[in-house]
Amino acid sequence: MKKAFLTGITGQDGSYLTEFLLAKGYEVHGLIRRASTFNTDRIDHLYRDFHDPNARLFLHYGDLNVSGQLMDLLASIRPDEIYHLGAQSHVRVSFDMPEYTADVTGLGTLRMIEAIRKTGISTRFYQASSSEMFGAAPPPQNEKTVFQPRSPYAAAKVFSYHIVQNYRDAYGLYLTNGILFNHESPRRGETFVTRKITRAAAQIKLGLKETLYLGNLDAKRDWGFAGDFVEAMWLMLQQDRPDDFVIATGETHSVREFTQKVFSKLDLDYEKHVKVDPRYFRPTEVDVLLGDASKAKNILGWEPKVSFDQLIDMMIDSDLEIARKEKTLTDAGFSGVGGERLAQ
Ligand code: NAP
Ligand code: GDD
Repeated sequence: MKKAFLTGITGQDGSYLTEFLLAKGYEVHGLIRRASTFNTDRIDHLYRDFHDPNARLFLHYGDLNVSGQLMDLLASIRPDEIYHLGAQSHVRVSFDMPEYTADVTGLGTLRMIEAIRKTGISTRFYQASSSEMFGAAPPPQNEKTVFQPRSPYAAAKVFSYHIVQNYRDAYGLYLTNGILFNHESPRRGETFVTRKITRAAAQIKLGLKETLYLGNLDAKRDWGFAGDFVEAMWLMLQQDRPDDFVIATGETHSVREFTQKVFSKLDLDYEKHVKVDPRYFRPTEVDVLLGDASKAKNILGWEPKVSFDQLIDMMIDSDLEIARKEKTLTDAGFSGVGGERLAQ
């Protein structure tokens, strides 16, 4: 039985990848941070009590800013494949917490690959690189496009990308960069724009909320489905030699277009409910992302399956279900829908 070790297992991608790997027969180990409340919602449906002899999913406490423990975990688990997904992954938040972002999102990668080098284990490593690294580079972007990072998050990911390439060349380690464009799902964090929109539109539809505050509606992104993208991560680690791949749909849409589509699918007029709040603007913005994934198509045989419209429908359906439960509770006087906590 192959063993995989995932950082970021509690995140959106971690949950889809865990499902995928368990279905392929892997034993899966995940790094989680200690929190005062449980933060395993996205993987709870996959978890079996570890006393069960058939359990194949195991969680371990740790943090990307503590290197010794990462080394101990790798030395004891000895995974065949490592998927390094853990990161402070919010671009807007990286302007509020630049030093923390550089530490976790940048140095965290170095700590992981140093742990591989120092323990001497034989393993394959996937680095969650990002289309955000392209920044101001004109579209379409592919593996040959020169990075022009526009945020502390992007700068940290560029560091990770290069240190992965350097360790590959210097020490002959199997380390791969997947440069993934934005990918979304019903499990997307609620402060990323697509989920923020589908979540609020569903609440507005059920009368739980009146207004959605957004930032820059003109930014354009190449949005795919996270479930499709995790398959590409796995395919990358099945190749004979490590390499770097762009994963994208090859379509781009503006935030305004996404918003308008979501509201109109719910028979709502977005202009009546959406207000622009400059607090959500970023000090520097990435205007257009549009990926060219032809290398992945040729070498990995990877192509996206879920269309832009199907993705939106999937997210709306799930958020309507959540909003219905909220409405039941609100009508019974148990809770209300809270307001915005921070500008994200
Ligand atoms: P996500 O939902 O924000 O998940 C991030 C994960 O990292 C969570 O499990 C989080 O744990 C964990 N984490 C954060 N700080 C940590 C720390 N100090 N130590 C250990 N774990 C830590 O992100 P995602 O959307 O799944 O993305 C996965 C990876 O791909 C990230 O590296 C992201 O930057 C990158 N990426 C994402 C996209 C995209 O469109 N989704 C595109 C390109 C690249 P908690 O649950 O405890 O917070
Ligand atoms: N979050 C957010 N909130 N974004 C908004 C809002 C808002 O209220 N209003 C407009 N936007 C715009 C942002 O300015 C940005 O141009 C776009 O919507 C997408 O923002 P996010 O959904 O936060 O994603 P991102 O593109 O900044 O970053 C995501 O994709 C990267 C890959 O390109 C994250 O998943 C990163 O971790 C990932 O690397």
